[in-house]
Amino acid sequence: NIKSIHAREILDSRGYPTVEVDVILQDGSLGRSAVPSGASTGSREALELRDGDPKRHSGKGVLKAVANVNTTLASALIGMDAADQTNIDNKMLALDGTEYKKNLGANAILGISMAIARAAASSKKIPLYRHLGGDGAYLLPAPCFNVINGGAHADNNIDFQEFMVVPVGASTFSIALEWGAEIFHALKSVLQKKGYSTSVGDEGGFAPHLSNNVEAIEVILQGIEKAGLKAGSDVCLALDPAVSELHQEDGSYLFYKSDQSKKSTEDIIQLWESWVNQYPIISIEDGLGEQDWKGWQLLTERLGDRIQIVGDDIFVTNPKIIQKAIADKVGNSSLIKVNQIGSITETLNAIKDSFSGGYTCMISHRSGETTDDFIADLAVATNAGQIKTGAPCRGERLAKYNQLLRIEEELGSKAHYAGMAAFKRK
Ligand code: PGA
Ligand code: ZN
Repeated sequence: NIKSIHAREILDSRGYPTVEVDVILQDGSLGRSAVPSGASTGSREALELRDGDPKRHSGKGVLKAVANVNTTLASALIGMDAADQTNIDNKMLALDGTEYKKNLGANAILGISMAIARAAASSKKIPLYRHLGGDGAYLLPAPCFNVINGGAHADNNIDFQEFMVVPVGASTFSIALEWGAEIFHALKSVLQKKGYSTSVGDEGGFAPHLSNNVEAIEVILQGIEKAGLKAGSDVCLALDPAVSELHQEDGSYLFYKSDQSKKSTEDIIQLWESWVNQYPIISIEDGLGEQDWKGWQLLTERLGDRIQIVGDDIFVTNPKIIQKAIADKVGNSSLIKVNQIGSITETLNAIKDSFSGGYTCMISHRSGETTDDFIADLAVATNAGQIKTGAPCRGERLAKYNQLLRIEEELGSKAHYAGMAAFKRK
């Protein structure tokens, strides 16, 4: 049973405050977790409670959320059974009482929710993935390495946010990680030869100024080749252009970082169609804005049987929205971010609902992260088969990939690498 709950304000990978929670059980077990934070957020995400005090951290302090953990939430939860995640999460939701966790803050609630799971696993003396997923958890996810950063995550002229390489043809997770790192280094030398910058963006990928968006794909393909790998079989591409960020009031999309051109929904769908025809792309996330439900239906009709169409800003890990999307044939895959919905129970429900509707799931970090590696265990626990947690660069990104190495080692012969199959669930 829970003995104490204590939160503190720490800093994330961008140097902004976030919430860290320690849960201690009566048997002495400790669970510690820290909450991530996005930059290109969906409008219907659960509320990230910030202090708004301009004298501290430009208003981004989280002392109110910390206080909510240490007072209201702690006093309600002390004594409860940490193994009963659903009961604890439901109690927190009831205490908050709002749809978007506006009273207590999703960062307060999620911090506890994750730390409770950790404490319970530690008390049972089993790994977190087994506590959350039981004996059926065995699938190591295909890692989607975001090797070129643009959009809201980098100071360059690339409109689209994420260009990822996915080693679908590797036989194990550790080989997939090895290939990812080799491609990353090969890509670095490709960029150097062209005289481009090799400094990195928020998610550890390179953030060069390029002559246009498509050049990002061209240099990545050169990097894959230089690493001695074959694009299309060993390694495929996944994109998160995060098109919600380009959406304008009049319904058009503005490429404001490159050439200031304006596009319609149809223009954007045609662009993805032509890229999918030319390049080994297996997944496109947020290929249209979150406001464009009809456009999404059209995009899914046109490309849904050829590639994975992932909803991030549009679904925000919300089971209700995912259910509506499944009914309306909007996308065919859910991006899963724990802090978009704000509790582990609801996150697990979003994954369950996606799978039962025939959608795939990609477990995801945020652009603002800590060294907390919770989502690595979550990916294995749910047999999601896919994870994106940045480039193989920057400690807060590697924390997750390295934890997956440990899990693979521990599972031994029980471990199975998801590879290409994960992108084809029906
Ligand atoms: P964010 O970006 O964490 O800044 O929202 C990640 C994504 O859009 O997938
Ligand atoms: Zn996204």
